[in-house]
Amino acid sequence: MVRFVSLMAAALLTMAAAASAETIGFSQVGAESDWRTAFSADMRAVAKSRGIDLHFDDAQGSVERQFAAVRRFIAERVDAIVIAPVVVSGWAPVLKEAQAANIPVFIADRSVDSDPSLFVARIGNDTNLEGRLAASWLAQASRGHCAIVELQGSVGAAPTIGRKTGFAAVIAQFPGMRIIRSASGDFTEAGGRQVMTDFIKSTNGLKDVCGVWSHNDNMMLGAIEAMKSAALRPGKDVLMISVDGVPGIYRAMLAGEANASVEVKSDIGNYIFDVVQGYLKGKRDYPKWVLIPNDLHTPEDAAKMLERHTGS
Ligand code: AHR
Repeated sequence: MVRFVSLMAAALLTMAAAASAETIGFSQVGAESDWRTAFSADMRAVAKSRGIDLHFDDAQGSVERQFAAVRRFIAERVDAIVIAPVVVSGWAPVLKEAQAANIPVFIADRSVDSDPSLFVARIGNDTNLEGRLAASWLAQASRGHCAIVELQGSVGAAPTIGRKTGFAAVIAQFPGMRIIRSASGDFTEAGGRQVMTDFIKSTNGLKDVCGVWSHNDNMMLGAIEAMKSAALRPGKDVLMISVDGVPGIYRAMLAGEANASVEVKSDIGNYIFDVVQGYLKGKRDYPKWVLIPNDLHTPEDAAKMLERHTGS
């Protein structure tokens, strides 16, 4: 009898927990980079560990798909919506629809240019600082004299705009530093390989180029392959600086083919769900921007960083 009562109590507790589980819609950009797939995996794992019913949508790089996903989350009457936006612009109509339905929206990772009253907070990194950190490192490594080729991220995406602007602001302080080629590789490895192949052709084999600046590591990994195919020596003849801090770039550093990367944390599910769940429990004093910090890594600590990411 005692056993029956305790089983009933356990079942009731489980049912109560299930009934109170929060349902959160998450619209993700896609799977264009190793950073992004690590972020998606972390969001799923953290949601599971917190008992959140996560409705995950992969927009495959399409902002229209994101708008449709957010409208579906509204129709499903989720408790909150988290959006990692593909691009900065065009969000006002769908954010107003969520607001009219009384569903709080949280912007994660990339930012939007809509009126901040349309969302609770953005939880994410400082992309302008990432560009400035990268340019400062390159200024130091090249003693302020460097012809640079730039691999840009996706057009209209917040990290592309922020990283490009931050980098440009720092090199403007150095008369000997300038960008001589710049094109979008869409944050993908294949894009980076293609853009670098074109740069190699149009600069006579990167003649006089001192630095490659890539808005993310995966494009840099593609660029490294393109340079090696052209018998160039990335990391030795040319300085290689990028952003993200994914395992592949630390391996490239250990092989002497990359020189530095600004880390962007991808295990940010706890940062995001702390804010979302805190808000749903009534906490209101969040800043509009909950900042996730960055730092820069080089071959000196590449082995340690690789171990931290992969355990090997
Ligand atoms: O928004 C973050 C950026 O998006 C990452 O730096 C890049 O790898 C990803 O595609």
